[in-house]
Amino acid sequence: MPDATLAVDPVSPMINTGRILIIDDEPGIRESLEVLLTLEGFDVHMAPEGNTGLDMLAADEYDLLLLDLALPGESGIDLLPRIKRLRPQLPVIMITAYGTVGNVVDALHAGADNFVQKPWDNEKLLADMRSAIGRSRSAEEVVQLKRTLKQRYSFENIIGKSDAMTKLLETVAQVAPSRSTILIHGESGTGKELIAKAIHLNSPRRDKPFVAINTGAVPVDLLESTLFGHVKGAFTSAIAAKKGLFEVASGGTLFLDEIGTMPIETQAKILRALQERRFMQVGGTSEIAVDVRIVAATNVDLRQAVKDGRFREDLYYRLSVINLDLPPLRTRKEDIPLLASHFLVRYAEENEVDPRTLSPDALRAMMDYEWPGNVRELENAMERGVVLSTSQNIGLELLPAQLIGNPYSAALLEQKSDASLFDIMEEIERRILADRLERCNWNQTETAEFFKIPLSTLNQKLKRLNVEVKKRGRD
Ligand SMILES: Nc1ncnc2c1ncn2[C@@H]1O[C@H](COP(=O)(O)OP(=O)(O)OP(=O)(O)O)[C@@H](O)[C@H]1O
Ligand SMILES: [Mg+2]
Repeated sequence: MPDATLAVDPVSPMINTGRILIIDDEPGIRESLEVLLTLEGFDVHMAPEGNTGLDMLAADEYDLLLLDLALPGESGIDLLPRIKRLRPQLPVIMITAYGTVGNVVDALHAGADNFVQKPWDNEKLLADMRSAIGRSRSAEEVVQLKRTLKQRYSFENIIGKSDAMTKLLETVAQVAPSRSTILIHGESGTGKELIAKAIHLNSPRRDKPFVAINTGAVPVDLLESTLFGHVKGAFTSAIAAKKGLFEVASGGTLFLDEIGTMPIETQAKILRALQERRFMQVGGTSEIAVDVRIVAATNVDLRQAVKDGRFREDLYYRLSVINLDLPPLRTRKEDIPLLASHFLVRYAEENEVDPRTLSPDALRAMMDYEWPGNVRELENAMERGVVLSTSQNIGLELLPAQLIGNPYSAALLEQKSDASLFDIMEEIERRILADRLERCNWNQTETAEFFKIPLSTLNQKLKRLNVEVKKRGRD
C-alpha cells in the first residue's frame, strides 16, 4: 500500500515529539498552548518573560521556541538576536497580535522562521511547527552525518543516508586502500567524480596526485601523448619533451572519466599500460615503469559497448575488477532533503547571505520530481534558489520550471512495471485528493466543491483510497 501521508508532507509526516519552549507573558495563552501541544505529544516548557526564557534556553536543548512578539519590557524582537546567538539553529515561531505586520517583517529579518497570529488556527500552528522542526532536524542530521562520515572514512561533503548510499560508501571505504582498479558506473550527475576523489583520499596514495582526464574531450591525435607523454621531436609540434598524465599521477590515482568514449586505438595502449605497469612515451625508445592506481568512470553500459564492438572486452575485464554502481537520485529520495540542506548551507556561505530554508511546498515538489540530472541538477536548483531569494525562505516560485511542471507524473513512474493501469490511476487520484485536502486545510466541504463532486462521493473516495484525513482546521 503506497504511503498516502508521504504525498501530504514528505518532511514531517507526523512529528509530534520534541521539547517546546513558550515565552509569553499572558497566562491564558501559555495555558491554551500547553494543553494543545501536550495533547499532541510535545514536551512543553514555559517562561513568562524573556530573561527566564533565555536562562532556560542556555540550560537545555529545545526543538522549537514559540516567542511572543509583544512581551512587556524587552520585546520578542529585542530578544531574538540574543536567542539566535545562544542557539543559532533553534527554529523560532513568533506569536503576534492581529495587525502587527511591520513588526512581523522585523521579526522575520531578525531570524524568526515563521509567525502565528492570535487567535491562531490550531491545525495551521501545528503544521507550521512540525514543518519547522522537520527542517531543523534535517539540517542537524546533515551536520551529524558529515561528522560521522568524516570520522569513519574521512569522506568529506558526501551526503547520503539511503540504504543504497550507505552500502556504497561502506564498499568504497573497504576497497579504497587497495591498489585495485575500480570502475564506477552511474548516470550523469550522480557523483562519480566525487566518489573517485573519495577513493583517492581514503587510500595510502592520498598525498600523491589525483589526476583526472576526460578521454572523450581530448582530440584523438593528442590523446596518446597526453596520457603517456612524448620525447622531444616525436612529432612536428613536440619542441620539448613532455610528461604524460600517467607519469604526472605517479604514486597517486589516475581518474579516467567517460571511459566509454575512449577511441579504440587508445584502449589498446591503456590496456598494455595496465597489464605491464610500464608504458612507452610517444617517440620514445625505452619503457617507463609506472605506479598508478586507475579509477575509471562511465555513464554508459560498458558491457553493451563491448557487445557493440565499441569497447575492448579485455580492457573491460581489466577495469572492472571492482564495480561501483551509483544509484540515480530518483531511487533514493530520502537523500533529497539532506542534499538540499547541504547545498543551501554551502551556497548561502558562498554568496555571503543568511542560511536559507525551503518552504514545505518547494520540498514537496522536489520529492515528487524525478531528477534526470541527479545530484548536479539538485545542486544547481539550490544555488539558483539561494541567489534569487530575497528572504530566508525559498518557495516553489524559485524552483526551476521543470520541477513544478507535473507533480503527478512521479506517481506514474514510481509504480512498479507490473502495476495495472487501475492501480496507477488510483495512486494519482490519491495524491491529488491528499494534496487538495491539505491546501483546503482539511476542509472536506471545500475540497468537494473544488472538485465539483458531492461531499458523500468525496468521503467514499477518501475511505476507499485510504487517504489519511487529518482533523479539520477552523473554517
Ligand atoms: N552524495 C553527494 N553528496 C554531496 N554532493 C554530491 C553527491 N553526489 C554528487 N554531488 C555533487 O554533485 C555534483 C556532480 O557530481 P559529479 O561531478 O561527481 O558527478 P558525475 O557522476 O561525475 O557527473 P557527470 O556524469 O555529469 O560527469 C558535484 O558538485 C558533486 O559534488
Ligand atoms: Mg563526471
